[in-house]
Amino acid sequence: MFVLGIETSCDETSAAVLEDGVVKSNVISSQFVHAKYGGVVPELASRAHQRMIVEVVEEALQRAGISKSQLSGVAATQGPGLVGALLVGLNFAKALAYGLNIPFVGVNHMEGHLYSVFLEERVPSYPFVSLIVSGGHSMLVHVSEPFQHSILGQTRDDASGEAFDKVAKMLGLGYPGGPVIDKRAVHGNPSAIQFPRTFLEEGSYDFSFSGVKTAVLYYLKNNGLLHNTSSISPELMADICASFQDAVVDVLVGKTLFAADEMKVHDVALAGGVSANSRLRKRMTAECEKKGYRLFYPKLEYCMDNGAMIGYVGWMKLLRGTTSPYELSAVANLELA
Ligand code: KG4
Ligand code: ZN
Repeated sequence: MFVLGIETSCDETSAAVLEDGVVKSNVISSQFVHAKYGGVVPELASRAHQRMIVEVVEEALQRAGISKSQLSGVAATQGPGLVGALLVGLNFAKALAYGLNIPFVGVNHMEGHLYSVFLEERVPSYPFVSLIVSGGHSMLVHVSEPFQHSILGQTRDDASGEAFDKVAKMLGLGYPGGPVIDKRAVHGNPSAIQFPRTFLEEGSYDFSFSGVKTAVLYYLKNNGLLHNTSSISPELMADICASFQDAVVDVLVGKTLFAADEMKVHDVALAGGVSANSRLRKRMTAECEKKGYRLFYPKLEYCMDNGAMIGYVGWMKLLRGTTSPYELSAVANLELA
C-alpha cells in the first residue's frame, strides 16, 4: 500500500511516499526567504508552498520509483500551523485524491511528530512517554497505545524552539536560531553564566521558557551588549549560547525523566525540531541510561517538519479505515486530541 504524505504547515514544503509504513522517499524543500525577516512571514510561506508543491510531490514519486496511479491514499497536514500554508498542502492533497479516486486523510501535525520515532527500524514499545519540542510546541505526552495519548504538560508561554529562535535573534545570530546556538555552544562553557531553570510548581509537567529568554536579554543589557552584539567575542558568544542551551536542556531532561518515573514506562521518545539539539540528545541519552530507560529519537530528517511523518500517521489511519471528507478545513490551532 503506497501512501503519499504532504506537509506544508510552516516553512517546509515536503512530500513523502511510504510503502506499508516504510519510507521510500522524503523530499523537503526549506524556505530561506524568511531568514532576513528573523522569522516566518506567513504570506511569503504560502506563496513559496504554492510555487514548490507540484515539484516536491513529483520528486517524491520519482524517487520512490512509482507513478501516482499506484497510490492508495493521500495524507496531508490539517493543523496546527499557518492557515494559508496549510491550505496549500491540504487542497493539493484533496484534489489529487479526488482525481485518482482514492481516499484522502487529514493528519494532526503534532501526531506526525509524536509517531515520527516509528519511521526508524528500532521503535519504542507502548506505553511510552514522548517529549515533543518544536518551534511552536513543547509538550510531554503519555502514549498508552496507538492513537491513545494524553498530554501530561505543555508550555505556558514560549515553546522551546521559539526561545532558541528569539535568543538567537537577540544575539544577532539569525533565523532559525536553534541550529546556530547548538553549533556555537559546542566550544562554550555551560556553567559560565547562571541562567534560571523554571520548573514551576512541584509535580507540574508544564514548561515555561520566557524567564530564561528574559534573563538572556537582561544579561546582554546589563553588560552593554544588547544591540551591540558585534562586540561579543567568539568565546563569550560560545559561553552565552552554551549557558542558555544548558538551562533549557536541564528543564526538558528533568521533566521528561520525572514523567517517565511517574508513568512507570520503560521507553522514552524525543521528537520535533528541537530534538535535533546535540546537547539535549547527549544529556537525555546519559540520564536515560543511568535510570534504565530506552531512548528513541528520529534521525535529523524526521525531526524537522517532513512529509514522511504525515504519511506514516495517514497510513496508520487508513489501515484503521479512517478517511476525511473533502470539506475538512485547515485549523491553525488544532489540538492534539
Ligand atoms: O519541528 P520544527 O521543524 O517546526 C515546527 O513544527 O515548529 O521545529 C523548528 C524549531 C525551530 O525553532 C528551530 O530553531 C528548532 O526547531 N531547532 C533546534 C535545532 N534545530 C532546529 N533547536 C535547538 N537545537 C537544534 N539543533
Ligand atoms: Zn513541526
